[in-house]
Amino acid sequence: MSKLLVTGGMGFIGSHFIRYMLEKEPLCRITNLDALTYAGNPDNLRDIEGDERYAFVHIDLTDRQAVEQEVAKGYDGIVHFAAESHVDHSIAHPDLFVRTNVLGTLHLLEAARKYGVGRFVHVSTDEVYGTLGSTGAFTEDTPLAPNSPYSASKASSDLLVRAAFHTYGFPAMITRCSNNYGSYQFPEKLIPVIITSAANDHPVRIYGDGLNVRDWLHVRDHCSAVALVLQQGEPGEVYNIGGNNERTNLEVARTLLEVLGKPESLIVSVKDRLGHDRRYAIDASKIKRELGWQPLVSLEEGLQQTAAWYLNNESWCKAARERSRDDTVGETG
Ligand SMILES: NC(=O)c1ccc[n+]([C@@H]2O[C@H](COP(=O)([O-])OP(=O)(O)OC[C@H]3O[C@@H](n4cnc5c(N)ncnc54)[C@H](O)[C@@H]3O)[C@@H](O)[C@H]2O)c1
Repeated sequence: MSKLLVTGGMGFIGSHFIRYMLEKEPLCRITNLDALTYAGNPDNLRDIEGDERYAFVHIDLTDRQAVEQEVAKGYDGIVHFAAESHVDHSIAHPDLFVRTNVLGTLHLLEAARKYGVGRFVHVSTDEVYGTLGSTGAFTEDTPLAPNSPYSASKASSDLLVRAAFHTYGFPAMITRCSNNYGSYQFPEKLIPVIITSAANDHPVRIYGDGLNVRDWLHVRDHCSAVALVLQQGEPGEVYNIGGNNERTNLEVARTLLEVLGKPESLIVSVKDRLGHDRRYAIDASKIKRELGWQPLVSLEEGLQQTAAWYLNNESWCKAARERSRDDTVGETG
């Protein structure tokens, strides 16, 4: 895949993906299309700014004409990460999520189809499947049942991608991943919030009883899965991606407090989020079986590395926080 357009590359996962691809595919050239919302942070990619294989274009996906003009330059593949991604914000501003996640995806799809882009990966989330009871896991055949405006907008975009394949034969694939963690994650999300609060001896705020279960995956492992789907995935297929690391939010908080040498008494319960899904768990056997994907980072090792990164990058956190829209507990993405 020599010429790639990546959307949302100034965000958490997109920036890791661009770095990952430049490392693994020395011949590829990448254009990063991003609107630089509060979550898009140019500091995330400062280290590759001078790389001649990399270029940035400041475009909002809601601007149909600008998107079309960029895609018209000719790309072999598109990897679509850009989205409004924070569930709490979607509860307050659902219209923003429909504009970017649904309309923005449609603009990109239409342009990609018009200019004959050869491969399109739509990066989605396990949240489109809704919530689980205490057993079982989401497979690619689990019916969509989104419960938040965020997941409803992502599910809607998934359906547009599906329709582009079935109606026009457009070579698109969808990935649905569980919760990611790692460096450069916006400090409003659960794991960075826990680390930065605890490091400063501030209360670690956890929604409700803290027993909501998430299946955590290190961001590099998500990137390796998306790269495999881009290169070898079957058009029209959906691939679930997950780390088999189910933990309650309380367990994650306790592990991080232990890593940081801070007392559990910092944990306080706050009023639960509206419509808060209880449990997500991903069955990733299809991508392992068909594409040979395997996650490499254990949760314990990944959490230690992540905690160390946030402690060593206080100025990045401070600058990112200043861009933040509000001060929510920030679970998931
Ligand atoms: N974070 C997770 O745990 C997780 C898990 C599964 C799937 N995902 C999906 O992965 C993708 C990336 O998530 P993330 O956590 O890196 O998000 P993020 O919020 O960190 O980054 C989103 C990026 O998209 C850009 N963007 C937003 N609106 C845009 C618009 N209208 N036009 C162009 N760019 C725009 C932002 O500037 C930012 O750089 C999202 O599609 C999300 O749904 C995230």
